[in-house]
Amino acid sequence: MYKIPLSKPDITQKEINAVSEVLKTSYLSLGKKYKEFEKIVAQFAKVKYAVAVNSGTSGLHLIIKALGIKNGDEVITTPFSFIASSNCILYEGAKPVFVDIDEKTFNIDVSKIEEKITSKTKAILAVDVFSQPADWEKLKEIAQKHNLFLIEDSAEALGSEYNGKKCGSFGDAAVFAFYPNKQITTGEGGIILTDNKDIADFCKSSANQGRAEENGKWLEHVRLGYNYRIDEMSCALGIAQMKRIKEILKKRANVAKLYSKKLKEIKDVETPYIEGQNKLSWFVYVVKLSEDLAGNKRDQIIKKMAERGVQCGNYFQTIHLQPFYKKEFGYKEGDFPVAENVSKRTLALPFYSNLKEKEINFAVKNLKEVIGEIK
Ligand SMILES: Cc1ncc(COP(=O)(O)O)c(C=O)c1O
Repeated sequence: MYKIPLSKPDITQKEINAVSEVLKTSYLSLGKKYKEFEKIVAQFAKVKYAVAVNSGTSGLHLIIKALGIKNGDEVITTPFSFIASSNCILYEGAKPVFVDIDEKTFNIDVSKIEEKITSKTKAILAVDVFSQPADWEKLKEIAQKHNLFLIEDSAEALGSEYNGKKCGSFGDAAVFAFYPNKQITTGEGGIILTDNKDIADFCKSSANQGRAEENGKWLEHVRLGYNYRIDEMSCALGIAQMKRIKEILKKRANVAKLYSKKLKEIKDVETPYIEGQNKLSWFVYVVKLSEDLAGNKRDQIIKKMAERGVQCGNYFQTIHLQPFYKKEFGYKEGDFPVAENVSKRTLALPFYSNLKEKEINFAVKNLKEVIGEIK
């Protein structure tokens, strides 16, 4: 048991009551909560349609299918992300084509995209990594110029803003994810966001075994579908969390602010960068260590922090250097040098909305001591 875990959901009596109420009804799936959850998230992100599913990964898979991306197609994406943002492309037999990242934002480097576009390229899938919005204006411009779809993996960015507009509202379709380490949780869960009715209808039907959208017969299946449905308890939890979203995001911003202030005294630690007018919803709090603490030393820091009761993480290992990707596609060290360098130097500190100031002090004090020991 850690004294301070890496993350923790923010669950109050309101959430407990909301889930309990569902259990007192006979509707544990495909009921009112499902529709209400979709509505509340669509309104929040200011998009026309939302389709709730059982994970962010399922949502990404359905978007790839809805856009008709298939075997032989290429999708441009980032190697610095959680593996699902690339795996969803492989599910349909298409090829993820990685583009290195920007060393400050950790997001796809838009200046390197066009050189990777070929006649097979169908889409760009960009990620708002660690809740930092990708450069959506530039991404839209490139996508329009080359007639490509734009997919937004906003799994980590519910509530983030780019030029005053919510993440999840850029591109042809987007996802949020609700695993318990996210800004809000449904236990497991995700949601697809789009302004395009055809995409929304396709995703809704595909998530429900390919049943026809409205008025379809229960045992009539009009397309290849999946069971990617989210249950009513999860949706009730999600609604209760969304009703508290302002409070949750405020608390997270406050924790981030305290960390950034207190970490100033450690010269080997770079606090998170915020690009331009971006507003971050703070999925995690990830610092970048100095070059001489990269790799093994960073890993030793994580181990020593754990021994002191403070759980830290090595977000993210690059996707192209994951064992499966190396074996399957022959990627090697040096293929995406910026992402690899960032990946060896980043350290996620314990971060959640109810993290107390004295716990932040404890984490920072220990980090300072551990870095001192390792240097
Ligand atoms: C960038 C990114 N994409 C996709 C996902 C997948 O979401 P889920 O875990 O709900 O399948 C995650 C989840 O952590 C993520 O961080």
